[in-house]
Amino acid sequence: MLWGAALVNTIAFQGPQGNSISITAAGSGPTLILLHGFPLDHQLWQDQLTVLSENYQVLAPDFRGFGKSSLSEHPYKLSDLADDVEAVRQHLAPNQPVVLCGLSMGGYVAFEYWRRHAEQLRGLILANTKPESDTDEARSGRLAMAQQAIEGGGWSAVQGMLPKLLAPDHLRDQNQGYQRVLRMMHDCRGESVAAAQQAMAERREFVPALPGIRVPTLVITGAHDVIAPPTLTKKWAAVLPEGRCEVVESAAHLTPLEAPAEFNALVDDFMKRIEGTQ
Ligand code: MLT
Repeated sequence: MLWGAALVNTIAFQGPQGNSISITAAGSGPTLILLHGFPLDHQLWQDQLTVLSENYQVLAPDFRGFGKSSLSEHPYKLSDLADDVEAVRQHLAPNQPVVLCGLSMGGYVAFEYWRRHAEQLRGLILANTKPESDTDEARSGRLAMAQQAIEGGGWSAVQGMLPKLLAPDHLRDQNQGYQRVLRMMHDCRGESVAAAQQAMAERREFVPALPGIRVPTLVITGAHDVIAPPTLTKKWAAVLPEGRCEVVESAAHLTPLEAPAEFNALVDDFMKRIEGTQ
């Protein structure tokens, strides 16, 4: 299928626990795997799939229960999602280590991927995310959202997040990016929202591990992000031995969708440095 001028394919295969994993793929060259945030899917990465695929093989899987991927029969942990990502790499980029880019929940999964499969990583991009596990208060908020999703459906549980995802200008303008976010949120299934919230509530603490992440790492957040605020993000990014932090002025929590040109330029520059062509 054509997205603008880019040829984009959807591929599905069976993951390690029998779940069907859907991947949206475009381009060829060094591999960049993009992991979406919650409550979203691969469409978060539309502007990366169309533009960065001019130079790279860009793979955007859907997490279990989101987009076109099936929910697994049993509850999952974020480490299971990291193993799904490794299955994607083995399936579509078997001969080379990859650059993994995760946004928010995708970033939590990227930390897990580093813990389990670091030898497959050429670089990490951690966007609008954080290494801390949840406080007790955050955990009970997640369990309440899970309950609401089961009882009232996905949209009823996630709609309150919208003001936190986009910068005030983008909320006001209600442009194409805003409409895309709304569509993804509306499409969330209640049981998928509940499963993701339960998995995030149980996620591991990665702050003590940061000095050991000896992989070139680009950390990006938005100046208006209240979930991964710039002051806190700069602090933890400074602990990474090979880390660099960039704050994108016009964005809140969904930097690749809100400021695609700036985000793509940062990613392209990082990829070129890793490839040694800059
Ligand atoms: C996300 O964007 O993935 C979520 O805000 C992550 C979270 O709920 O912690």
